[in-house]
Amino acid sequence: MSNPYTFIATTAFGLEAVVKRELQALGYDARSTSPGWVEFDGDLSAICRTNLWLRSADRILVKVASFTAADFDALFETTKSIDWTQWLPANAHFPVEGRSVRSTLTSVPANQRAVKKAIVEAMKSQHGVSSLPEDGPLYRCQIALLKDEATLTIDTTGPSLHKRGYREFAGGAPIKETLASAMVQLSFWNEEKPFLDPFCGSGTIAIEAAMLGRNMAPGLNRSFAAEQWANLDSVLWQEARAEAGDLQLPPFEEILVATDADFRVLRTARQNAEKAGVADQIHFQEREFSDLQSSRKYGCLITNPPYGERLSDWRELKPLYESMPLILKRLPTWSHFILTSYEGFQKLLQKNADRRRKLYNGRIECVYYQFHGPKPKSGETEPVFGGINEKAAEQAELFQRRLRKRARHLRKWPSKRGIYCYRLYERDIPEIPLVVDRYHDHLHISEFERPHDRDIAQHDDWLELMRVSAAEALDVPAEKAFLKRRGMQRGSAQHARVAQDRYETEVEENGLKFIVNLSDYVDTGLFLDHRETRMMVCNESLSKDVLNLFAYAGSFSVYAADGGARSTTTVDLSKNYLDWAERNMRLNGFTGDEHTYVQSDIREYLQSLPDDAQFDLAIVDPPTFSNSKSTEDDWVVQEHYAELLNSVLQRLRSGGVIYFSTNYRRFKFDETLIHGRCHEITKQTIPEDFRNKRIHRCWRIEKLD
Ligand SMILES: C[S@@+](CC[C@H](N)C(=O)[O-])C[C@H]1O[C@@H](n2cnc3c(N)ncnc32)[C@H](O)[C@@H]1O
Repeated sequence: MSNPYTFIATTAFGLEAVVKRELQALGYDARSTSPGWVEFDGDLSAICRTNLWLRSADRILVKVASFTAADFDALFETTKSIDWTQWLPANAHFPVEGRSVRSTLTSVPANQRAVKKAIVEAMKSQHGVSSLPEDGPLYRCQIALLKDEATLTIDTTGPSLHKRGYREFAGGAPIKETLASAMVQLSFWNEEKPFLDPFCGSGTIAIEAAMLGRNMAPGLNRSFAAEQWANLDSVLWQEARAEAGDLQLPPFEEILVATDADFRVLRTARQNAEKAGVADQIHFQEREFSDLQSSRKYGCLITNPPYGERLSDWRELKPLYESMPLILKRLPTWSHFILTSYEGFQKLLQKNADRRRKLYNGRIECVYYQFHGPKPKSGETEPVFGGINEKAAEQAELFQRRLRKRARHLRKWPSKRGIYCYRLYERDIPEIPLVVDRYHDHLHISEFERPHDRDIAQHDDWLELMRVSAAEALDVPAEKAFLKRRGMQRGSAQHARVAQDRYETEVEENGLKFIVNLSDYVDTGLFLDHRETRMMVCNESLSKDVLNLFAYAGSFSVYAADGGARSTTTVDLSKNYLDWAERNMRLNGFTGDEHTYVQSDIREYLQSLPDDAQFDLAIVDPPTFSNSKSTEDDWVVQEHYAELLNSVLQRLRSGGVIYFSTNYRRFKFDETLIHGRCHEITKQTIPEDFRNKRIHRCWRIEKLD
C-alpha cells in the first residue's frame, strides 16, 4: 500500500477548504471530516512534506485509530489493543491530551488517564519491558471524542505551524501567519499581479504572499517534533528539505507594497521579511492610509485594518472605516480583500462584498470581505468602489442644459443692479439635488440632500462629474468650481482628504465688499437669500443703533453701517465668525469705535445688558434650533423664539424694529406671543433668483409703545 497511514491536518475554523487545496497541490487526496480537521493518507514522508509545506494548517497529526467508545471499557480496551510500537519507542515521552464534544465520556481528565494507562500497558507488553522511562523524544498523544467516536492521534508538529521562525517581532495586533497565507490564497493574487497592504503592521500578509509567489516552503526555517522520532528515518527529512530547496523559485518581478502609518512597526516588518528571506520582494513604506495611491492596474489589496477591543476603539475607528470607499476608489481596477471584525462593516462602506467568509484571528471572530474588481481581459470596467454609469452621464448633460438656460435667463439683471453673487440652480431637476450659486467667476455647489441610490464612493464620483459639468456649462475654470459635500462625517472627510484647501475670495454686492469662503465652511459667509433683507436693513439704518444677533460673518452689520447707522453691535458665539465680521466691516472702511463686536451666547448677552441699553434696529437670524420631527417640539421651538424676540424687544427704544428671519421649515409663528406688531415680509425678502420661495421666512416686528 503506497499510502498506509492516515493523517489529520488541523486548522482554524473556516480554513478547511484552503488546507484541502494545499494538500491536493502536494499530491494528497484530502477530505475534511469535521470542522478544523482535514484528513489525508500518505506514507511516512508525508509527515515531513506537509509539515514543511502546509501554509494554513496548524499541525499535522498521525491518526492512530478511531473507534466507537461510549464507555471507559471500550476506550481502555481498544486503546490497549492497538500496536503502539509502530509509533512509540520504549523511551517515548507521551503525554496524553484530550477533548470531548457531545459524547458520553465527558470528563476529559478521566479520558486522558484511561488512554494513558492503556498505552502504558500496551507498550510494556509490546516492548517487553517492565517500566517506561519516558526520557526519549516527544510524542504528544490526543484522545478526541466527538459524538462517542474516539480518535487517537500523535502530534508530529511541535509548536504550531504558524510559527514559521521569521516572526520574532510582531506589531500590536498581528494576525497569524497561517491566516495571512489563507487570505492571500483566497484572493485573486498571484505573483504577476500588483499587491498592496495599506495596514501592513508587522508585514505578515505581504511576507506570506512573497513566500507563496516564490514557492518557498514556510517550514524550511524551523524544526518539528517528528524530526526526533526514531521511526522516522532522518533521510526522509533531508529529502523533503532538499525538495523544498529545489522547488523554491527565484525572486519574481513584481515588488509587493506594504505600508503603515507607524514607522516603528515597519522596522519590525522589515526585520521579519529579512528573516523570511523575502526582504527584496517587498517595498515597505511609511504611509497614511489616506495617502494611498498606485499607478498599477488590476492588483489585489489584501489587508487587515486596525480593529478595536473596546467600544470606544470602534467609535474612534469609525471615520477611518467610513473613509475606505472614498480612498479605495482611487484603485478602480483593483480587487479588495479585507479581514476585519468591525461590526456593520458593509453598512458603513455601503457596499456588499462579492463573497464573505467567517474566519478566526485567534479567538476574534472576523469576516473576510472579498470585493472582486474588473478582470483585465474581460473588458469589464465597473470598479468595486466608485464609478460613473450611463445614467450619471445623461444627468450631467441634463444638468448642463438647465444651467445654461438659467444663466441665459439671469444674464441681464444681476450686474445691472450691482449683483454678482446669485443663485443659479436649486434642485431644479429633482434627481440632481444640488444648489449652484455663482460668486463672480466662481461657483459654489452644495448638496441639498444625499440621494440613496448610490454608495458613498459612487456618489463622490457623481458629485465630481456634476462639478466639472457645471463649470464647463457656465464657462468657469474647473478649479474655481467648489463643492461642499453633505452628510459625511468630518472625520471621514478628513481621512479621505476630500476637503479642499481653504479658499477665500472677495466679492461685491450692491457696491459693498465681502470675504467669502468657498471651500471649508458649510456656508460661504454671504447668505444670498438675505440680499433683499440686507437692503431693507440698510435703508432703515440711518442714525440708528443697530444690533446684529447671530451675526455670522456680519453682512447685515456692513449694510447697516453703509446705511449710516450711528452704531453697530455684532454678536456671535464664534470668535472665528466675529473676526470674519470685523474683517468685512474694515474691508468697507467701517473701522470706528462705534462698531463693536461681542463674542457671546445671545441669551447670556441679552441678560447681561444694562437696563438702559437701547437699540433702534435689531436683526435676529438664528440658526435652526431644532432638527426634531415632532410637532410637540415645534411648540417648544416656537416658545423659545418668542422668548428670544421678546427679550430683544425689551432692549429696543420705542418705535424700534426687529428683522427676524428663520429657515426652520415647519416654523409656526403665534404672533400673539410677541410683545410687538408683527408683519410677515417673506414675499418681499425672497430674491428674484430664488425659485424656491420657501427658502426662509421673515418678519418685521415693531415695538409697541
Ligand atoms: C491590525 S494591524 C495589522 C496587522 C498586520 N496584518 C500584521 O500581521 O502585523 C493594523 C495596522 O494598521 C495601522 N494603521 C492604523 N491606522 C492607520 C492609518 N490611518 N493609515 C495607515 N496605517 C494605519 C496600525 O499602525 C497597525 O499596524
